[in-house]
Amino acid sequence: MTQSHPRISKAVIPAAGLGTRFLPATKATPKEMLPVVDKPAIQYVVEEAVSAGLDDVLMVTGRNKRPLEDHFDRNYELESALEKKGDEERLARVRQSSDLATMHYVRQGDPKGLGHAVLCAAPHVGREPFAVLLGDDLIDPRDPLLARMIETQERHGGSVIALMEVAPEQIHLYGCAAVEATGEDGVVRVTGLVEKPDAADAPSNYAIIGRYVLDPHVFDILRTTEPGRGGEIQLTDALQQLADDEKVGGPVHGVVFQGRRYDTGDRGDYLRAIVRLACEREDLGPDFRAWLRSYVAEEMQQS
Ligand code: G1P
Repeated sequence: MTQSHPRISKAVIPAAGLGTRFLPATKATPKEMLPVVDKPAIQYVVEEAVSAGLDDVLMVTGRNKRPLEDHFDRNYELESALEKKGDEERLARVRQSSDLATMHYVRQGDPKGLGHAVLCAAPHVGREPFAVLLGDDLIDPRDPLLARMIETQERHGGSVIALMEVAPEQIHLYGCAAVEATGEDGVVRVTGLVEKPDAADAPSNYAIIGRYVLDPHVFDILRTTEPGRGGEIQLTDALQQLADDEKVGGPVHGVVFQGRRYDTGDRGDYLRAIVRLACEREDLGPDFRAWLRSYVAEEMQQS
């Protein structure tokens, strides 16, 4: 089955969300541009796609998303100012984001849900398998997930989703998958999917995290997928159909992720991601860790 598949080269990043959880920061700035230490969250996601070999990136954007396009474009004024100062280090940082990948943009128009955002990518993607990366999930580059998913898709065909075991009281925040073992370590067969179920109705504690490698048949399904949970066209519902009828674009496999993931869509997790990543940075880490230690010691004395 392996050799007949075209090599996956396209990544789709839905980025049309309103970011209401971060208001007022996101009133005039896209949530994807919020910094995680000193890089916008979205840049980590594009870097992840590129390190998995996907250098054609389509962002599905909406209104107020111009800063995203500017960030991945050249900024000649800034570059020439830094050049004149001889500030090579900052110049390299500015150029890094515009040299990363071939970027494309499409507007979602009406925000009708994740499934609808993915459908907006159909003309660009064509009939090849492709990856979807959700910007709220940051996957630590030391725990590569997407490359494993692509490799799994190349062996099995169909679609591959990323799964993570969560506590039962957390499952209502995620899409949830019913799975069966494949005999392969860390790879399961997905037999059913439900978007954000109540704990009592969840078929498992396997949560979908924001990485997908999809068969293009998903577009045919999304064209007729009715609005589901929250009145939105859900990608999870379309995947459920793929899992149901594997003659049309199936099967669906899950790669179980056990590495480090940060949810930058949630304010608490966003703060935790910044602290962790700052501690680990070679340049900022030593000073920041020393400060953090004394801050925690002070806190402990008070409590
Ligand atoms: C989306 C998906 C959901 C998935 C989640 C992962 O939900 O619909 O199935 O579990 O991303 O982050 P959202 O968080 O955008 O509401």
